[in-house]
Amino acid sequence: MSASPRRRHAAPPPQLSLDLGTDDAPVPPAHPRDGPDRTAALAQYRRRARFYDLELMVFEPIRRIAIGLLGLRPGDVVLDLGCGTGLSLARLRAAVGERGRVIGVEQCPEMIAQARARVQAAGWRNVTLICAPVESARIPVRADAALFHFTHDVLRRDDAIDNVLTHLRPGATVVASGLKWAPLWAVPVNVFVLNAALYSVTSLAGLDAPWSRLASRLVGLEVRPMLAGGVYVARGRRAAQRRDAPTAG
Ligand SMILES: C[S@@+](CC[C@H](N)C(=O)[O-])C[C@H]1O[C@@H](n2cnc3c(N)ncnc32)[C@H](O)[C@@H]1O
Repeated sequence: MSASPRRRHAAPPPQLSLDLGTDDAPVPPAHPRDGPDRTAALAQYRRRARFYDLELMVFEPIRRIAIGLLGLRPGDVVLDLGCGTGLSLARLRAAVGERGRVIGVEQCPEMIAQARARVQAAGWRNVTLICAPVESARIPVRADAALFHFTHDVLRRDDAIDNVLTHLRPGATVVASGLKWAPLWAVPVNVFVLNAALYSVTSLAGLDAPWSRLASRLVGLEVRPMLAGGVYVARGRRAAQRRDAPTAG
């Protein structure tokens, strides 16, 4: 990775639309065999960025369900991890209203450029975009909710999940959704999942239970299989006290 010499600014005030630029925090090495490969992911989404919104249309009903499960209220602060081209931003912003705040984190410059254009076109002043890997992003808030929508690579990283949890208030809602293996007998569904996964993630590891790393960190995790078991939506809460991570600053 080529390190950017740019330094970050102090945390911005609420109601400010801001792009924090490329985060320059150190990025841990990838483990291509066992987990996500950042270099491969950047290349994958660099290629897909221009057509991504069309490709995702088939999954839009899942997005609606996932965002609904966040239970957002006006004034809430919500994180959209691996926000891609910003397809969730309009719904998230509508749910938190003018007084709330949406923070999108995305590592692929080509994907976040589309999200940036979306924010500018809509004139949203309370949407902040951070171009950085979730695992090292410097998130300038303590949020009420977090969304991981079709971000399997992010969910396979303990460091990414821990960074997010550090920036959630106790009791915050976490929703994750995405592809998963269907039961073995559902062969056509698994053929679809395999093809979609090869196209959109860099490691198939964990597709049997993509929420597993959240499960050990959240309380009350519920998982709902959808689309014949080839997709899931999971929801849980950040515990009031976490023993496995430092208190949020
Ligand atoms: C399938 S897309 C989902 C995008 C968006 N959440 C949506 O609902 O349309 C996965 C996104 O996760 C991003 N991504 C993968 N690993 C990441 C990481 N470690 N940190 C930040 N973004 C990541 C990719 O660049 C890509 O934009």
